[in-house]
Amino acid sequence: MNIILMGCPGAGKGTQAVKLQQMFHLHHISTGDVLRAEIASGSPLGKQIAAIIDKGNLVPDEMIISMLENSVKSTDKGIIFDGFPRTVAQAQALDEMMHRLHHRITHVVMIELPQEEAVRRITSRRQCKKCGEILHIDVKNPLTKCPVCGGELYARPDDTPARAKHRFDVYRQETLPVKNYYQSSGKYVEINGYQEPQKVFEDIEKSLKKNK
Ligand code: AP5
Ligand code: MG
Repeated sequence: MNIILMGCPGAGKGTQAVKLQQMFHLHHISTGDVLRAEIASGSPLGKQIAAIIDKGNLVPDEMIISMLENSVKSTDKGIIFDGFPRTVAQAQALDEMMHRLHHRITHVVMIELPQEEAVRRITSRRQCKKCGEILHIDVKNPLTKCPVCGGELYARPDDTPARAKHRFDVYRQETLPVKNYYQSSGKYVEINGYQEPQKVFEDIEKSLKKNK
């Protein structure tokens, strides 16, 4: 099973990818996480990447594609791609790579969420620096430490209201055409992301089992 998880910024891709990884023993590749790890390493490449993603723009296709191939080759498990492909050129490069490595994409899952709700979720998201847990904070839930490991929480620099809006503009322009690329493939399903995380997960799980 090789799954592409698509959806707008804040749709719940990361939240669902972790659940799917555990349930189906998959290798999770989040291109956003890979890029943030490069930034955290403090390398010169990381500095270049930070200048792009902190503004909410996409990093160049060639950079993402070359970073991805090593990760795909490093596992013999099925893969869940989270946040990739994000352009039609990336989708074509992924097809070519999978074919060359004798793999294939089996499912493309689009999590649908209205922009207003996605921006609300993004601007109240926190992530744990230590274990990576994704959390949602609000007045009823004023977390200061990670409830899983006690680690420090941080807000992503691209999660401000203005940058979230820009990420949506980029999503509409660059990533929505990827939906058309897969829509007629017979592997594409749309899931309502405007539900409790567990219900979203159950809907995804059902769709994966139906289209085995
Ligand atoms: P990336 O990290 O992939 O960001 P994104 O696509 O904008 O998506 P997010 O991670 O913001 O949201 P998500 O869908 O994972 O939602 P989450 O589960 O966290 O990419 C960041 C940047 O890296 C890009 O802008 C670009 O610059 C660069 N990049 C990445 N990939 C690239 C590529 N392929 N090519 C070029 N550039 C690339 O949930 C959000 C919040 O909602 C959390 O607080 C969570 O707790 C909460 N939540 C989740 N589900 C629910 C629910 N059902 N109900 C209520 N709350 C929920
Ligand atoms: Mg994510």
